[in-house]
Amino acid sequence: MLGDWVSIGYLFSAVLFILGLKQLGHPRTAPRGNQLGAMGMLVAVLTTVAEMQFGDGIEGWILIGSGLLIGSLIGAIMAIRVEMTGMPEMVALFNGFGGAASALVALSESWKYIEDSSLELPTGLDLQVVVVAAGLSALVGWMTLTGSLLAMLKLKGGVEIFGKWIRTPTWGPGWLNPIKAILFFGVLGLIYLSIDDPTNTDYLFAIIGISCLLGVLLVLPIGGADMPVVVSLLNSLSGIAAAFTGFIIGNSVLIVAGSLVGASGLILTFIMCKAMNRELKDVLFKAFGGSDKEQVTRTKVGSDADEVAMMVDGAQKIIIVPGYGMAVSQCQHQVKEFADLVSERFDTEVKYAIHPVAGRMPGHMNVLLAEANVPYDQLIEMDEINPELPEADIALVIGANDTCNPVARTKEGPLAGMPIIDVDKASTVVIIKRSLSVGYAGVDNDLFFMDKTMMLFGDGKKMMNELNAAVKEL
Ligand code: TAP
Repeated sequence: MLGDWVSIGYLFSAVLFILGLKQLGHPRTAPRGNQLGAMGMLVAVLTTVAEMQFGDGIEGWILIGSGLLIGSLIGAIMAIRVEMTGMPEMVALFNGFGGAASALVALSESWKYIEDSSLELPTGLDLQVVVVAAGLSALVGWMTLTGSLLAMLKLKGGVEIFGKWIRTPTWGPGWLNPIKAILFFGVLGLIYLSIDDPTNTDYLFAIIGISCLLGVLLVLPIGGADMPVVVSLLNSLSGIAAAFTGFIIGNSVLIVAGSLVGASGLILTFIMCKAMNRELKDVLFKAFGGSDKEQVTRTKVGSDADEVAMMVDGAQKIIIVPGYGMAVSQCQHQVKEFADLVSERFDTEVKYAIHPVAGRMPGHMNVLLAEANVPYDQLIEMDEINPELPEADIALVIGANDTCNPVARTKEGPLAGMPIIDVDKASTVVIIKRSLSVGYAGVDNDLFFMDKTMMLFGDGKKMMNELNAAVKEL
């Protein structure tokens, strides 16, 4: 009887996961998709708890209850406290925790059977199969943990802690790839050896150690603009680790959820590769990061809000190009106010150009602009908006840099080949940022120094407020 309810519970949560994923596909339905996914997870957890603990003593309940409470509390505090700009690091951290959790569960489960041979294995499995699955789960799970921790550092903190090399190393592929290959095949060899000697736990510990090193070596040479690819790949790996673990503990919903995360993460990885015009193998095994080009110190006289407002007055078409700086300064509401002002006062056509990797996470700009109630039909994807840029009177760039850096059209440096928003084709370019400094990939941007470019130096929110005030005074 209980078994039937458990199957129904797992089926229900799997359906919720699938519906949730479907709804995550569009910004309008994404919040509901998120809720459905969370609900699916709650149903899965409650079903598992019911399956394990019915009829057992109070101790198990206390242990599980405390785990649920502490975990939920930590998750809730982190989610409430995280700044929008800190989301990518949090996602990377959660990917890593997901991988480690799966690997730990697999380890403890296989350990249980290794220690006590009288224990009954899940139906249809023998110890060799459990040990192989635990080895694969350890490989993927621990690699995901260390890779994700390094990715988190690269996304933000590491730049300050370890210096620029951790973000865009100038070394790597020549000698690193053979080492990675040796380590990877070494792990596979150890898994193979453990089949003949499944009770020897030394193999498992060696697999864990090598996998941790592999995670670091995998992420270390990936620099600058390619980070979106690596974060989505790690997300996919955390799902695959969960699926392996589900197999060991005979939990169908973990296999389903893990496979869904693995598959959707992989799809996202290929979408990101396409956005960056890269092959996945090139991102993983070829370093785009390094550039030994000497940086030249150049200057540019800044404009002020009144000057820009005068330009805006005559403009028939303005294309707004948001980037990471808009997320940092949280000026999306001021941007929307600007768009409303110019379309009401001057009947100007306003559109937003959305680069697939603008900001620090997929859909970053869409989320921010949706929060400011910008209509979805004004958010135009890069491929669609680029042909319109030559007709635009003004391209207003707010805290974007790499995603509109013309150097990407060349064959050199970390941005080589990445498609960009063609802001340099607009009649006038207005750029709001605090200085002439580089973007995430660490590459100088000639766009700032073009004759038709006006730089509005300052924090995004402050400058947008000044610009809106100047437009109102016209
Ligand atoms: P970036 O190239 O990162 O440049 C952002 C610019 O914003 C900086 O040059 C900075 O210049 C400016 N800025 C920072 N704070 C500001 C503030 N308070 N007010 C105004 N401006 C501010 O931005 P992007 O064009 O959006 O490109 C995104 C980059 O991140 C790409 O290289 C992408 O590959 C990478 N990345 C993306 C993701 C995803 S999934 N989207 C994930 C990881 C990495 P100042 O310091 O001069 O102000």
